[in-house]
Amino acid sequence: MVNAPDQLWWQRAVIYQVYPRSFQDTNHDGIGDLEGVLRRLDYLSETLGVDAVWLSPFYPSPDADFGYDITDFKAVDPRLGTLETFDRLLREIHARHMRLIIDLVVTYTSDQHPWFIESRRSRQSAKRDWFMWADAKPDGSPPNNWLSAFGGSGWEWDAQTEQYYYHSFTKHQPDLNWRNPEVREAMLDVARFWLERGVDGFRVDAAHWILKDPELRDNPPNTAPRPLVARSLGEYDSQLHLYDKGHPDCHEVFRAYRRLIDSYSTPEQPRFAIGEIHVFDWQEWAKYYGVQLDELHMPFNFALVGAPWQPEVVRSVVEGMEGALPHGAWGNYVLGNHDEARLASRIGEAQARVATLLLLTLRGTPTMYYGDELGMVNGVLTPEQIRDPWGKNDPALGRDPARTPMQWDASPNAGFCAEHVTPWLPVNPDYPMRNVATQLAEPRSMLNFVRHLLRLRQNSRALQQGTYRTLESAPQGCYAYYRSTESERLVVALNFTDQEVSLHLPSSGRVLISTHMDRNERFERELVLRADEGCLVALG
Ligand code: BGC
Repeated sequence: MVNAPDQLWWQRAVIYQVYPRSFQDTNHDGIGDLEGVLRRLDYLSETLGVDAVWLSPFYPSPDADFGYDITDFKAVDPRLGTLETFDRLLREIHARHMRLIIDLVVTYTSDQHPWFIESRRSRQSAKRDWFMWADAKPDGSPPNNWLSAFGGSGWEWDAQTEQYYYHSFTKHQPDLNWRNPEVREAMLDVARFWLERGVDGFRVDAAHWILKDPELRDNPPNTAPRPLVARSLGEYDSQLHLYDKGHPDCHEVFRAYRRLIDSYSTPEQPRFAIGEIHVFDWQEWAKYYGVQLDELHMPFNFALVGAPWQPEVVRSVVEGMEGALPHGAWGNYVLGNHDEARLASRIGEAQARVATLLLLTLRGTPTMYYGDELGMVNGVLTPEQIRDPWGKNDPALGRDPARTPMQWDASPNAGFCAEHVTPWLPVNPDYPMRNVATQLAEPRSMLNFVRHLLRLRQNSRALQQGTYRTLESAPQGCYAYYRSTESERLVVALNFTDQEVSLHLPSSGRVLISTHMDRNERFERELVLRADEGCLVALG
């Protein structure tokens, strides 16, 4: 394995997102658990070969938003395990030389959290100001026009104390008032708790929503066209979100987090944080690194998730990010997560391989979503099976289809849970064909493609930290680029079409991997790509 000495682990790593509820059930309640993640660690480290695990929320939660509505930030949901299981998981991850990043939910609590229960007791409550309470307008309507991201007003009336509270997401997730110093201290203390336990870093949830306009001004209507790479958010898109998120004061909060995280970093264990920031203007996006690179280590780059799958658009995303990265900052790419439709459903199974070759060969840290290595597709649910609160408001925006159980083998329930157990979301009926065991046995499967590519990446300094340069002469329908160091010159060539295309390269070379998994030949200056084929080639 090549370990570039001047790169930190999170710059070198391939991060794999485990949505624990859907990964592996071991206690027969149909919900995945931490013991299940433990059981599958060898798959992640040995079989697949990723470097870091991002674990979505595992804290106690009434499940109004499946783990993102939390009643205790410093505990493990009993259905998922205990703090002892968590500690064991972390130890076992470290024993395999992997890293663990956990979801840090900072913007809201559950409405069942003791802080909120106390806060809503009376206007005089010591915790009243820990949340965003405001008076009705004289006609009784909400204080302003801010919306919940899941649809409808973001304000909920509390009849007992006759005020509204604000929730950026479901009404069961009251937003914390980060302008209150006690809130700030209590929430930083949550991060401290997990840093003390030894986690390597955080995915800071809904980071962009942490602070809002203190004057609670109305958002203006949105008349601008949606950015090309941003997906539709339904009613939420009707406003320009000038005042209900992304307030400039959030940068000060991110600096406070950074100071805390840095204070726990050592040369052996540099800690790390990546923020969930949905901003599609590159200059604005880059501000989240901090002027002195003193905020979260990276804002997530979601532009490939919503991008129409066209070579020109994908190229503009990569060049946009490369051009916007502040000096010394490190970028990242994402193709899927628990909030988005499955990659293979968005762009088709053949192109999902091409996209995965892109993700794992760009300059920047890739995050992979569980199951995408099998080409898992969106589950189809009956209306009664919908669990996601967003999907209940607007089925077109529902996220359950991307959260169906991991498909391990062809046994009943795909090896996710025992046969007699009902999984919390239905297993995708394609599991007898599409599962880890079947794909391991099939040399040209998507899984074997991803495994092989990850090994190539681990052994290539050019892929880990080499320069990026667009190959200008790529033909129509194709996007290609160089990844180079002084001693290694690679080209990644991606055919977005179902027609053959041919590329002229500056020298001869050899195919290191094809998405079709059937060639390794040398070529002279011409590289011919078949329909839906991507190749990583070494020049020279
Ligand atoms: C998480 C979502 C969640 C939302 C509200 C997001 O940022 O990624 O899954 O629904 O926060 O809780």
